[in-house]
Amino acid sequence: MAKLRVGVLISGRGSNLKALLDTCLTPGFPAEIVAVISNRPDAIGLKYAQAMGVPAIGLDHKAYDSREAFDDSLHEALRIAGVEFICLAGYMRLLTPGLIGRWADRIINIHPSLLPAFRGLRAHEQALAAGVKLAGCTVHIVRPEVDSGPIIAQAAVPVLDGDDAESLAARVLEAEHKIYPLALKLIAEQRVRIVGDKAFIDGVVDDETAAAQLISPAR
Ligand code: GRF
Repeated sequence: MAKLRVGVLISGRGSNLKALLDTCLTPGFPAEIVAVISNRPDAIGLKYAQAMGVPAIGLDHKAYDSREAFDDSLHEALRIAGVEFICLAGYMRLLTPGLIGRWADRIINIHPSLLPAFRGLRAHEQALAAGVKLAGCTVHIVRPEVDSGPIIAQAAVPVLDGDDAESLAARVLEAEHKIYPLALKLIAEQRVRIVGDKAFIDGVVDDETAAAQLISPAR
């Protein structure tokens, strides 16, 4: 089967992008990243993509009059690159409903909470303020409502006494780097079925790559 051609949208650091790029190098991995696009031309993640020989495009949103005009350009850049599927990885701009419609069920995002809890910005601060004992991350299909859509994979990590947003974010990020490549693999293998607001995974997800896993904190 031909590899799924993936475009990754970023805005900054790009550690999830790096996890995806690295995993795509694994022999036999069913997806390849054919374009990385950032709405911030100075995003560090673009440099990493370039260094790996992946086309990296800075598309400055400030140069556009409207979100629609920007998303039209984005759509065109993705189309020209032959992208079939989009991963948002720290992409800090809201997508227009028009773009989401054009790519219906072909965009996924990673959010640093166990959705539907703690949508939006500052998810770790929200989790700490709520006093939850488990935090985590979620990969989901993108729908027009922010941080909503069928859930493909989640990982939980403990919240420890004394955690602050930074220490919790670091623990969650480690889990993000595991489940995002896993979710992409399941999609590229055509094992994710979307039925209404839910995603179902066909076949057995083995222990090592379990869709829901508890990752122990470093001691
Ligand atoms: C991650 O925490 C991700 O869950 C959120 O934005 C952050 C991006 O980090 N959507 P990075 O740019 O992938 O390092």
